[in-house]
Amino acid sequence: MSKIISVCIPKGGVGKTTTAVNLAASLAVAEKKTLLIDVDPYGSSALALGFTPDKIKAGISDIFNLSKNISFAIHKTELEFLDYVPSNVNSMITDEKISKFSDNRVILKNALKDIKESYDFIIIDCPPILRGFTTNAITTSDSILIPIQSGHLSLDALDKLFEYLEWVRDVCNPTIQIEGILLTMYEEDKVMQISARELQQRYSQYLLNTKIPFTNLLNEAMFYGKPLCLYNISSGGSEAYLKLAGEIISKN
Ligand SMILES: Nc1ncnc2c1ncn2[C@@H]1O[C@H](COP(=O)(O)OP(=O)(O)OP(=O)(O)O)[C@@H](O)[C@H]1O
Ligand SMILES: [Mg+2]
Repeated sequence: MSKIISVCIPKGGVGKTTTAVNLAASLAVAEKKTLLIDVDPYGSSALALGFTPDKIKAGISDIFNLSKNISFAIHKTELEFLDYVPSNVNSMITDEKISKFSDNRVILKNALKDIKESYDFIIIDCPPILRGFTTNAITTSDSILIPIQSGHLSLDALDKLFEYLEWVRDVCNPTIQIEGILLTMYEEDKVMQISARELQQRYSQYLLNTKIPFTNLLNEAMFYGKPLCLYNISSGGSEAYLKLAGEIISKN
């Protein structure tokens, strides 16, 4: 059975894309057939996977404007078990048009119907907003994974997200679950430990065991267009994302 997980929180720069890319790659390393979909119009996952515009033949905008079947937008990656649907919303005009289409909440769900069962996991990288593309992603998801930047606990973003999920359950996806809250950019210092404890007090039932350490190697790997497991598999960051993949596989 296939599992669809959206990586989502209404806060920018907290590690959503880094997590979506590196989790998807780590699931693929564990030989789980995985599809990564980028629904962020300004998404940077293409850079992180080494997809320059000339390598992108179709993407999420063709799916949302209903001009192509999703199979045309699926790209093979360097990893045998990882496929990829890029975000190719690359001009203001397209962005505006596509946003209109994404008001229809079930476009992505319908698009995934025929291919869903070919994958063990489908990971969706969301923009930092709670409407349009994100609602499409959440409508078709089984669960959401919530990255939180350690030391900058965005508790109001979390509260907003939980409120939004209540609405989602009422309106478009009654069975959406929380896969977990993931601490990203973690360092063993006092502030981090205090904020981890605070999160533990409020959201302990959702907090994942894995923490992603702060490491410039994640930036460096992205610069070279590779998930960290293909750039430096024995680094702490790569091990953490492999551990996260293991934690998610064993939960499911
Ligand atoms: N564990 C980490 N250690 C160090 N830097 C990190 C880590 N995770 C992410 N970063 C860096 O933080 C920046 C923001 O990360 P990312 O793009 O994944 O965030 P995002 O939540 O997807 O942002 P946006 O909302 O703009 O899409 C990037 O430069 C990324 O390389
Ligand atoms: Mg992002």
